[in-house]
Formats: sequence, structure tokens, C-alpha cells
Amino acid sequence: MPKPRVLVVDDDANLLDSMRRQFSANFEVVLANSGQHALELMASSEPFSVLVSDLKMPGMDGIQLLSQASELFPDTVRILLTGYADLQNAIDAVNQGFIFRLLTKPCLPEALDHALAEAIRHQGLVEAQRENYSLKRFKRLLEGIMRGFSALVEARDPYLAGHQVRVTALALAIAQELGMNSDELEILRIAAMLHDIGKVKVPADFLNRPGALREEEFSVIKMHPEVGYDILKNLDEDWPVAVIIRQHHERMDGSGYPQGLAGDDIVQGARIIAVADVVDAMCSHRPYRPSLGTEAALKELEAGSGTKFEPQIVAACLRLFREKGFQLPQTTDAY
Ligand SMILES: [Fe+2]
Ligand SMILES: [Fe+2]
Repeated sequence: MPKPRVLVVDDDANLLDSMRRQFSANFEVVLANSGQHALELMASSEPFSVLVSDLKMPGMDGIQLLSQASELFPDTVRILLTGYADLQNAIDAVNQGFIFRLLTKPCLPEALDHALAEAIRHQGLVEAQRENYSLKRFKRLLEGIMRGFSALVEARDPYLAGHQVRVTALALAIAQELGMNSDELEILRIAAMLHDIGKVKVPADFLNRPGALREEEFSVIKMHPEVGYDILKNLDEDWPVAVIIRQHHERMDGSGYPQGLAGDDIVQGARIIAVADVVDAMCSHRPYRPSLGTEAALKELEAGSGTKFEPQIVAACLRLFREKGFQLPQTTDAY
């Protein structure tokens, strides 16, 4: 790890020299002999973690320097060295220079060393806070993009309205029953809310058509898991969202599509979404039939347990509906 960069400013060349000797083991010490020189260095080089300035210097004094530095380079933590008698100056420094520590001169090396270590720690905390804040903003942005994608595909088919929200709610409830950890739940949530995104490539009249589909129309619809995979395959590989989407119509006995995978070759997230998807599809109205109701959907799951669907997942789903009062959300809104 590179050493933290510390800029020391003093008009006393001997003091600067001794500072370099004392602190260069732990810090990359850069020296400036005036306030102006310090600002030039700060503007033209890598950022400094800490700025240590003497108070009394010809030209720009320490208060002016720290005050300007706080505006121009707010991430650099500021320390002021001052004589015992300068109380008013010290007050001004605190009020105008937004300083982190005020140390009296002459300063013991241990005291300055301790202050530098504290300054670096403080800077790390501020940075972590800022990163956390940006991460939260980024997550909100990502969430908005996902909702947009989800709404995009559902807008093409009135019978799909709210489907991905309902499948997500049930898939997450099942996953919690099975004891999935928070990362796995997050991956599953994203995959479930976008699982039918590949339907953007299916002609709208295939999706909305009342009556049975012709074989060739159905084979186009069956491409949607693969299309969804293609759309999202470049996401971070530690987040296997695209793989889950590709496999959400696979069945445990190999009778599903698009790859005809079986058993453990199907990732668990896809097995869960498969179950949630069937329940919601059967509970929803379709162009060619009304809703079949929850009980019929659960019976279909029971009939397919161990063949089409993983028994543990079916059992968790049945438990949710029959013992824990779970209900699909009554929403027709996309995310
Ligand atoms: Fe699907
Ligand atoms: Fe679906």
C-alpha cells in the first residue's frame, strides 16, 4: 500500500528537514517553504492526505493557507502548528481554516506523529462515508433502470402487467423459507424482476393473441429466456442474473426449454422462479382463459413435484400458501 502523502509547510528550512527525517518512514513527506508554494504543489500533484502548516510565515500565513486549502482541496485534512501565545490566531484558524488539529510549537515528534495518524484515520472514515453515499445513489439509479426495463416488457402485453412483481414477491418468500443468504436473495430479486425481459423480442400480437398459438409462434416465444440471457449476459459474473433468466423455463426432468437442462444443472434461482412463475401464470387471466385460481396452481405444483419442479421448493411454496397465509400481491403495476 502506498504511504499516505503529507505536505508540510514552513518557512524554516531546518524545521522542514527535520520533519522529513522524522516522518518519512511512515509517510511520503513533501515540503513547501511558503503558502503559495504549498497551493502550487497541491494543484499540480497527486492529492495529499494531510496538510501541516506553520502559522507565521511571510506572505500568506497559515490561516490563509488552510482556509484556501479547505475550499480548493476539501479532502485534505488540515493541521496547524502555532506558538503558545497566539490564542486569537488559534481561534481564527479553527473558525476559518476548518482545521482538524491545532498543535503548539515546538511540537514533540510523538504528538505530531499521533496527530498525523489520527488525520489519516479521519480521512479514511470521510472517504468511506462518501463511498457509501455514492453506492446508495448508484443503487437507486440501478433500481430505476431495472424498473424501467421491467415496465418496458410488461407494457407490450396487458396480461403480463405486474407479473414480474408478483413472481419476485413469491420467489423471494420461497428463497427465505429455504434460508438463502442476503446476496443470493438480491441476485434472485433482480433476476425475478427481469425474468421475462426477453419478451421484448417477441412480436406483440403473439403475446396478446386469444386462442392457441401455432407451433412456430410458440417456438418464437420459447426464445425469450435466451434473448433475456443475451441482454444481461455482460453483467458482473459474480451476479449470475443472466443465467437464472436463461434457465427459468427449464424443468428438473429435462422437459423444459431452451436447453433441456435437468436436475442440478439448473441453478437454484431458476428452479425457484420456475415454481413462482407457474403459480402466477395459473392465477392470472390469459387471453385464452380466465384465472384458474391458487388452489389449481398449487395442485399443479404438487403433481409436478420431483419431475418438473424441485420437491423442496414446491414444499416451501405450499407451506407459504397453505400454512403461512401468503398471497400474491394484487398488483398490475410493473416495477
Ligand atoms: Fe418466462
Ligand atoms: Fe414469467
